[in-house]
Amino acid sequence: MKKLFITLIFLLSANYFFAQGGMWLPNTIKGSIEKDMQRLGMKLTADDIYNTEKSSIKDAIVQFGGGCTGEVISPKGLLLTNHHCGYGAIQRLSTMENNLLKNGFWAQSFEEELPAKGLTVTFIDRIEDVTGKILGNINNDLPLNERQSLIDKNIDSLSKTTQIEDYQTVEIKPFYYGNKYYLFVKNIFKDIRLVGVAPESIGKFGADTDNWMWPRHNADFSIFRIYADKNNLPAEYSEENVPYTPKHFLPISVKEINEDDFTLVFGFPGRTQEYLPAIAVDQIANKLDPVRISIREAALNVMGKYMRNDEATRLKYASKFAGIANYWKKWIGESQGINSVHAVEKKKEFEKEFLHRLDKNPEAKAKYGHLLADFDSLYAAFEPYNIAQNAIYESFFRSIDFMRVMSYLNRLKNYYINNGAAGYDGFKARLLPYLKGMYKGMDISIDKDVFAALVKKYALESKPEFVPGSIKALKTDREFKEFANKIYNSKFTDYDSLVSIIDTTDIDWAISVFEQEPGFEFAKEINEISDTKVSPNYNELSAKINDLQKEYMKALMEMFPEKSFFPDANSTLRITYGQVKGYHPRDAVYYEPVSHIEGVIEKYKPGDYEFDLPQKFLDIYKSKDFGNYTDKTGSVPACFIATNHTTGGNSGSPALDAEGNLIGLNFDRVWEGTMSDLYYDPSICRNIMVDVRYILFLIDKYGNAKRLIDEMEIKK
Ligand code: ARG
Ligand code: GLU
Repeated sequence: MKKLFITLIFLLSANYFFAQGGMWLPNTIKGSIEKDMQRLGMKLTADDIYNTEKSSIKDAIVQFGGGCTGEVISPKGLLLTNHHCGYGAIQRLSTMENNLLKNGFWAQSFEEELPAKGLTVTFIDRIEDVTGKILGNINNDLPLNERQSLIDKNIDSLSKTTQIEDYQTVEIKPFYYGNKYYLFVKNIFKDIRLVGVAPESIGKFGADTDNWMWPRHNADFSIFRIYADKNNLPAEYSEENVPYTPKHFLPISVKEINEDDFTLVFGFPGRTQEYLPAIAVDQIANKLDPVRISIREAALNVMGKYMRNDEATRLKYASKFAGIANYWKKWIGESQGINSVHAVEKKKEFEKEFLHRLDKNPEAKAKYGHLLADFDSLYAAFEPYNIAQNAIYESFFRSIDFMRVMSYLNRLKNYYINNGAAGYDGFKARLLPYLKGMYKGMDISIDKDVFAALVKKYALESKPEFVPGSIKALKTDREFKEFANKIYNSKFTDYDSLVSIIDTTDIDWAISVFEQEPGFEFAKEINEISDTKVSPNYNELSAKINDLQKEYMKALMEMFPEKSFFPDANSTLRITYGQVKGYHPRDAVYYEPVSHIEGVIEKYKPGDYEFDLPQKFLDIYKSKDFGNYTDKTGSVPACFIATNHTTGGNSGSPALDAEGNLIGLNFDRVWEGTMSDLYYDPSICRNIMVDVRYILFLIDKYGNAKRLIDEMEIKK
């Protein structure tokens, strides 16, 4: 009786690590997931969401560029995504005279829509479970590398023999750490045009200060359009192309949104690690994150000092700074969140239950009894290499442009050694345009100061065996500054002089110039440490850990048959669902789930680089010309939060209501809940969305682009 009671308590309380939350492949939700969604209020069926016989919601969802999501919102291929997802394309379309980022842009006709060269969007035509075809002939007793090469062969041959149209591509990916494989047939569109975007002061309002935070007040959206050839098929850019007619587009609802309303987010989440053992989560949150955080902090401190003193520098470094700050802040939230919800302890409790179940099942125990102990010893061995691998990248390459250049020169030399002049020229051709952009965004004296600060930190805080000989004896600020002066006394501090050396037919001479560079030698020294002392161990241990994780995943699914296990995110199409909900970030504080335009005005700081607003916005606000984009408060809702389990890559994902109408645009998570990549806790994990009414309000009243609203199907 007591035992039964304890088991019951366990089953009820817990959902130890995957209570709510989860990112499901849309072709696998029929049945229990579908029922759970309906229990929370969803009026749709699994077939409405994913169907290969007729059009379904999945036909409105695209992967936008490489790392974001977008959705089709009109019968004419109008596409909605985040401002921070369209940012690069909009920047490339901007000029000094016509800065679209700063001023915003609204095409008032199809002719005015601007081709964003190089941008692609990808639809998923169908998903197939191909586990049998990939793993059918794999013998688990084979050594790890032989197994993997057989699997790779199977993937390769199945990719080549799958029946597709000539405009389609195939991708096969592992799920559940290689326990399952799915095949994706994709339609990739290449003629994408910019249609509308608000000034970045509105789209990025709050910038880094507000990033990863609630309450939020930025309109993080931009609008594009997909163009297709005359047969409505993907094609390269052409003047002849026409707006794409989608199989499905999302209707838009401007109805009230209330706490506890059902929401569904559909998109391409990048990476989660939800099934790691406790020891791994502990290592990430308490060992690795603090190292990565402190290195980035040192870089940000130096850059921030220069940016505060000079407006031109601030502009030049804004996007670099934001890039470094984004994950710096995320890791802080992650590390604190893991500890504040006691995720490691909860995972340990869960592991106890796992062992307990094994104890009752001798056959399973024989197979899986070794797993947790093996994790312990592998992760203990892995820790120094895990930290060193990350510290080397973060200290020498992530934030220091000049060292990246030096590292590229090393690669260029290796191309020459391995593939002769053709190898050199091939890599050079790819490298030059990239480096051109990089030099444009770099200030060599700031770069040098960042270098001095990070090299010092690395030299003084790393295990001696991982510290390069040339910096081992250095101790004081002055010594590191002198070392930096030596490295930056270089022929490669500006782009033109770099080109005059690299772009030559006398490659031997160019290499001899590289070799006289102290920075080139220093990069080589670091790479040697990495290649001899870090990477081999890191790679060998990660491969073993992954293989163990594959077995552990299988064991979990076998030993907890009552649970549904979603596969960790891997940049494939997923749905996640939840409810609109506020949360308690700390004692005595409650955050409401909806913010309003009043909050934008509250945060407004004239002249500030993060919180300024255009006069036109202030004028519209003052006139209270809100159209019918208001909610029950009479004001325009700006952003809202819900319990959907999202991650990087879900930026630009649509948030849908119970009927499948668009109500919001996902763009971030709350700080206290960024640990959801490792451990989802429904009490504090929230995704952040722009309310679609704020988007429509800005299109209509700020952009005067009513023609776009007329294309949409708006449900009142
Ligand atoms: N935190 C959001 C996402 O990863 C937004 C990032 C862009 N905004 C910024 N201020 N850096 O990734
Ligand atoms: N901003 C993120 C992105 O670019 C989404 C936020 C998150 O990580 O949840 O994908």
